[in-house]
Amino acid sequence: MNSNHSSPANKSAVHKDFDTENLPFHVAIIMDGNGRWAKQRILNRIKGHEKGAETVRTIVRTSREIGISILTLYAFSTENWLRPKAEIAALMVLLKRYLKSEKKEMLDNNIRLNAIGQIERLPEDVKEVLAESMAITKKNDGMLLNLALSYGGRAEIVRVVQEIVKETKEGKVDPDSITSELITEHLYTRGMRDPDLLIRTSGEMRISNFLLWQIAYSEIYVTDTLWPDFSKDEYIRILKDFQRRERRFGKVE
Ligand code: IPE
Ligand code: IPE
Ligand code: MG
Repeated sequence: MNSNHSSPANKSAVHKDFDTENLPFHVAIIMDGNGRWAKQRILNRIKGHEKGAETVRTIVRTSREIGISILTLYAFSTENWLRPKAEIAALMVLLKRYLKSEKKEMLDNNIRLNAIGQIERLPEDVKEVLAESMAITKKNDGMLLNLALSYGGRAEIVRVVQEIVKETKEGKVDPDSITSELITEHLYTRGMRDPDLLIRTSGEMRISNFLLWQIAYSEIYVTDTLWPDFSKDEYIRILKDFQRRERRFGKVE
């Protein structure tokens, strides 16, 4: 833990310190750096993913604790299917294990689970636990945990275009009435506010096909910390940084 800053270390201190009025409603995170974390330790990349899953637990819990309404985590991209078969298989095993082990936590903490992406491409057994967790948490309204799985921003937009074109052909939609709102209603994230804050770990200054449409006005924070090393303390520091920013949305003050 970094002792050079004054971030609160426990829950009550978090509450005391926070201006809860000014928190991001929706936080999206590109969880990157598991492989590098393992490499630094001369471990197999899979070990990095295992450690990364622990960070997911911490960050989900912290988000719920401090009152984030939507947390979207980029767990697996459409491009990640191009990784070695063994790594993909290990990631799927970890995902299934995570979903099973967090069922109780999600129920106890009033968290609703949702998945965005090409879910149909996931292995059958993963799809089953995912569907079950989503079903049993359906009525929860404390926080929405959105897992981006087999997710790609471009693929999502292609899907939207296909749906809207189909609706225009069927006469349900007039091409002149295609608006930004209509497109938004067709995204996986329909009904959700756009991310206010986008965090990427492990220093890469890129979006990697994440939520292309939705992040138009998101505040971006890139940290060099590798995802397995990402902590509650650092998360809180980033949230405080967000609270100090002036969001202009193209306007003047
Ligand atoms: C993020 O860590 C996890 C996934 C993309 C599934 P990486 O596996 O991309 O780790 P690095 O970027 O190689 O360090
Ligand atoms: C982005 O990380 C995808 C996820 C975190 C799931 P990547 O490691 O796949 O992205 P690149 O290859 O660095 O752009
Ligand atoms: Mg990476």
